[in-house]
Amino acid sequence: MSTDIHDIMEFSKQFLFHPSTVSSIVPSSKILSSKIIDSVNLSDAKIVLELGCGSGAITGDIVSSLSAEAVFVAFDVNQTFTEIVKQKYPGVIVINDLAENIEKYMKRYSMDRADIIISSLPWAAFSRVTQIRLARIIYRILRPGGRFLTYSYLHTFAFPSHNRFRKILNKRFKMIEISGAVWANLPPASVIKCIK
Ligand SMILES: C[S@@+](CC[C@H](N)C(=O)[O-])C[C@H]1O[C@@H](n2cnc3c(N)ncnc32)[C@H](O)[C@@H]1O
Repeated sequence: MSTDIHDIMEFSKQFLFHPSTVSSIVPSSKILSSKIIDSVNLSDAKIVLELGCGSGAITGDIVSSLSAEAVFVAFDVNQTFTEIVKQKYPGVIVINDLAENIEKYMKRYSMDRADIIISSLPWAAFSRVTQIRLARIIYRILRPGGRFLTYSYLHTFAFPSHNRFRKILNKRFKMIEISGAVWANLPPASVIKCIK
């Protein structure tokens, strides 16, 4: 399902109310979403998590790439967004909570470690403590060989908080690939793929 004009307007409104957590004025573009989805083999994954699903710009592409047996859970701290995603994708488990609390829900749904975690979390806006805490949780809940995908906006590359996040990833993951710039996104971004 594509992102319609209503979703874009609601997204921009949420950005005005919560600029630091929403972090972009419009949802991710179809091209950025495809770049993320094409970097992993979702059809073989049994457990997939999305952190920061927003209004579902990437969620729809994840859903259409999954096998029928896969369990997919999407998180967002913003209740307006989780309501939109629940309505658009009734088969998805959508949780309105901080990604920091993900392990509680994995226990609740008797989920094993994840094969793939796709994150839109605004890493450059997080404090050092939050970056370390979240990176530790993500690493812990990912199975060995599992993939963690995220993206950074190009303008944040100049921020110390972005460099700190990259160093945190480098310390934990055995392999990290950074894509070329995806210019067809507002703001332009680069996809980061980490292999545990
Ligand atoms: C850049 S937006 C991306 C939204 C959507 N995935 C997209 O690509 O259009 C980041 C999203 O992360 C959510 N978010 C920020 N911090 C969060 C946290 N600690 N836990 C869960 N969601 C969070 C925001 O509410 C927002 O929806």
